[in-house]
Amino acid sequence: MSKYKQVFSPITIKGVEFKNRIETSPMVPCMATPEGWVTKEVIEFYRPFAKGGAAIVTVGDSAVNWTHAMDHEGQLNLGDDNVKMGLDDLADEVQRYGAVISIELNHGGRFSNSANLASKGLKPVSSTPKPAEIDEYFSKLHGRVPAEVEEMSIPLINQTIQDYAEAAGRCKDSGFKMVMIHGAHGMLPGQFLSPYVNKRVDRYGGSIENRARFCIELLDAVRRRVGENFIIEYRISADELVDGGMHLEEVIQFVKMIEEKIDILHVSVGMLPNPFTIQRMIQPLYVPYMPNVHFAEEVKKAVGKNLYITAVGSVMTLENAEEILSRGLVDFVAMARPFLADPEFMRKTALGKVGDIRPCVRCNTCCGRSAFFKKTRCAVNPINGRETEYLGGRILKADVKKKVIIVGGGPAGMQAVLTAVERGHEVVLYEKEDKLGGTLRHATDLAFKKDLRNYLDWIVAQTLKCGATIKLNTEVTAEIIKQDQPDALVIAVGATPLIPNVPGIDKSHVHWAGDIDCGRVQAGQKVIVVGGGLTGGESALALAMEGKEVTLLEMQGPEALLNGSSLINRFSLQSLLAEYKVTIVTNTKLEEVTDTGIKTINSKFQWKEFEADTIALALGMRPRRETVAAFRHLIPETEVYIIGDCKQIGNVYAAVHAGFDTAVEI
Ligand SMILES: Cc1cc2nc3c(=O)[nH]c(=O)nc-3n(C[C@H](O)[C@H](O)[C@H](O)COP(=O)(O)OP(=O)(O)OC[C@H]3O[C@@H](n4cnc5c(N)ncnc54)[C@H](O)[C@@H]3O)c2cc1C
Ligand SMILES: Cc1cc2nc3c(=O)[nH]c(=O)nc-3n(C[C@H](O)[C@H](O)[C@H](O)COP(=O)(O)O)c2cc1C
Ligand code: SF4
Repeated sequence: MSKYKQVFSPITIKGVEFKNRIETSPMVPCMATPEGWVTKEVIEFYRPFAKGGAAIVTVGDSAVNWTHAMDHEGQLNLGDDNVKMGLDDLADEVQRYGAVISIELNHGGRFSNSANLASKGLKPVSSTPKPAEIDEYFSKLHGRVPAEVEEMSIPLINQTIQDYAEAAGRCKDSGFKMVMIHGAHGMLPGQFLSPYVNKRVDRYGGSIENRARFCIELLDAVRRRVGENFIIEYRISADELVDGGMHLEEVIQFVKMIEEKIDILHVSVGMLPNPFTIQRMIQPLYVPYMPNVHFAEEVKKAVGKNLYITAVGSVMTLENAEEILSRGLVDFVAMARPFLADPEFMRKTALGKVGDIRPCVRCNTCCGRSAFFKKTRCAVNPINGRETEYLGGRILKADVKKKVIIVGGGPAGMQAVLTAVERGHEVVLYEKEDKLGGTLRHATDLAFKKDLRNYLDWIVAQTLKCGATIKLNTEVTAEIIKQDQPDALVIAVGATPLIPNVPGIDKSHVHWAGDIDCGRVQAGQKVIVVGGGLTGGESALALAMEGKEVTLLEMQGPEALLNGSSLINRFSLQSLLAEYKVTIVTNTKLEEVTDTGIKTINSKFQWKEFEADTIALALGMRPRRETVAAFRHLIPETEVYIIGDCKQIGNVYAAVHAGFDTAVEI
């Protein structure tokens, strides 16, 4: 028996046994066919969560019809009986591990895919013709008009309610014993419930009873279709986090109206159509852990004993889940990203191998990709999203054991080591410093980058114990490689900071931002950070958090600000920079460093001086091309691999994937 008594305590609801209290929070991998049918990729995406030990595996955001409801490419289409050819395979493959499969029924409403609708001559629909704030934001940035939204007519409301019921029925017919209705995150049910969106004057708008009517009729219709012995989980935002929206008190009032109609209430926050609330919903690394669990606990205190409650949001470990469940107020804990980063984390925890769990770094690359028509993939788990290529998480052993030399112990080199060793090669890793980690050491210096630090610790520990020969404090030269005579050579030597050639750049108050981040040099009270990408933005935030007066200077327009980050993390960092009063200046280029600050020129050719006692440079990195050039012809060129920042400046995602993709082919 493991020490996680609450987590592994089974519970039976309406005759359905849940083997423990962990639910995979819904995640849409965007892997269905263009018609919305189940693919092998969809099945293999969810399988590891079931195999890994989750009690409930929730299929993400699935459209209840294929006209207005769809809000992501690659969603499942629950609005057509054809989906059942495959939905039952999905159910079977998840349930064979003893997990209960659930699926999130959704209609995006005003958040639906407007481009897709326009191609069919349709517009997004909602309770009220209010465009999504995220569409307004990007329209403004790119000089276009936001998509118009149409008010739903009564016949369309009735049809949509029926669509939810039919969709739930199709899931039941396919072997599901449970569904989740997506009433959270500003989706259609929320767009009726919320006074922030709903301005109707008919029986679906105005008082809370009227605003709740759509949700109630929907739940009644679903219940009629699936019967009493079927579990309905309702996902809700306990706080929409916008002025004039739903807040806890009114949410509790609403929950009391539906509690007899549902079995489990899953408590999240925020609204997807409003980008600045998403950081509390899918929290980036800047946001503290478990910021919303208290909402679930408040709701539990207010409702009847028969309603089971799920808490969610940056519960990153089973220890945390155990702690929450031990307080006795919530019945389930939902976790999403920990399953992506390491689907085996539950088993590893139960077996006492916590140190082997690959931590999620809360970069939100995974969920950010769908906005760019890309399937889900994880930055730190190179197999996630490619499960059909590496079935069961396994990679093939090499046909021929080779001697592989890897130069550079950053994330690209370390991932290459782990994968090459797993494939059975003899691997030697050279690192010129006295520690592994590479640039990731700088990347993790700031206090709010704890998740990335955890990952650094994990990959260093795994590399040190994997069986490769690790040679620290060894700057590789051509002679070393010639002497070693490797069969394959992986060059992963990274990059150095880019320092611009402008007058005054050598002055003593000019520093690389990375050196300030790690405390190697101290910044004064008034700082200009030059370079408004991710690293500049983070350095500026850290300095402002210390109480310094900070200006962030960017040569390009506002669209380039905080580039290098996922959309969610970017919005979050943007909000934090505003909160900590960092002055942001765009379209303005550094021309000279003076004794008292800098001289700049903007895109309208206007000169301006800014005063500062410290100049922090965050202008990007430059690949170590000379080192690459010195090594690349030392063995037959077909056996040389150049990866990571030394090939093209990237990030952890790019480095890890390059390391894996290379080693898996050697
Ligand atoms: C300040 C800062 C913050 C960042 N923050 C983030 C972030 O939040 N998220 C994110 O995804 N990315 C971030 N990045 C980017 C990320 O750290 C890099 O993209 C990543 O580390 C690149 O990995 P790599 O293995 O290719 O190179 P590196 O990490 O640079 O590793 C290269 C290694 O090669 C070694 N080496 C060089 N020459 C030799 C030689 N001749 N012999 C032996 N060893 C040698 C170096 O010492 C180094 O250890 C940040 C970068 C910076 C600078
Ligand atoms: C890749 C990805 C896809 C997601 N897709 C959905 C979705 O389809 N429906 C939904 O309600 N929430 C979705 N979410 C939000 C999660 O369900 C969850 O609420 C959020 O990630 C916070 O939990 P975590 O900190 O355990 O990741 C998604 C999150 C991620 C990371
Ligand atoms: S992509 Fe980033 S946020 Fe998503 S699971 Fe992987 S590490 Fe976590």
